[in-house]
Amino acid sequence: MGHGGDIIHELKADHREVESLFERISAAAHENHKRKRLAEELTVELVRHSVAEEQYLYPAVRARVRDGNALADKELADHAEAEGLLKRLERTVPSDPAFGRLVAKLETEVRVHIRDEERRLFPRLRRACGKAELAALGDDVRRAKQVAPTRPHPTTPSTPTASKVLGPVVGLVDRVRDLFAARGREDWPDVDEAEAADRARARVARREADTWTYDELYAEARRRGVSGRSKMNKQELTSALRR
Ligand SMILES: [Fe+2]
Repeated sequence: MGHGGDIIHELKADHREVESLFERISAAAHENHKRKRLAEELTVELVRHSVAEEQYLYPAVRARVRDGNALADKELADHAEAEGLLKRLERTVPSDPAFGRLVAKLETEVRVHIRDEERRLFPRLRRACGKAELAALGDDVRRAKQVAPTRPHPTTPSTPTASKVLGPVVGLVDRVRDLFAARGREDWPDVDEAEAADRARARVARREADTWTYDELYAEARRRGVSGRSKMNKQELTSALRR
């Protein structure tokens, strides 16, 4: 998952990992359970890779590479196509002949993507960016990928946060995409609202209420039923909550 080096090195290592998964699926031709598990693993790796590219690679390409917008648009269209195939694969049992056809089609799509990036896009990006910038983007991509689900059971989220993000209804591709896409955004729900409220109450208990905003103080005063709260200023609310 995390390989080290600059963004190009990191994403190329992902490509090798994905190629190896295709080879393992093809080698497990008559082992349906294993093929299904490998297909799930492939889904996680491909979605993780796509999200990281969408968050960091393509914006850099648009900003730094000549004709970068066209290059990025083409890659995004390819991602959408690959995800469509992943969703169909997710709904197909390995004993169905369609499973093998979908894997083959997906492999063709992904290999085109890999060739496109490695021959056309990465060399241009390397010429357009300095070493430090490429290295920093490598760190960004690794951070974006560092989140559950983990192997070998990508369908079973391993963290409480993941289980809040991943609903039972949506398919694997969407669940994995939501999970990784949320990573790095400010609204990434590392705690839910109830936990945030608990933390706020603990701050009051530790007499840290002066770090609160007026709205937080007022909400807490209302929760505790502090009388006269609507006429109080921030200082008075703080004092009332400390009593
Ligand atoms: Fe890629």
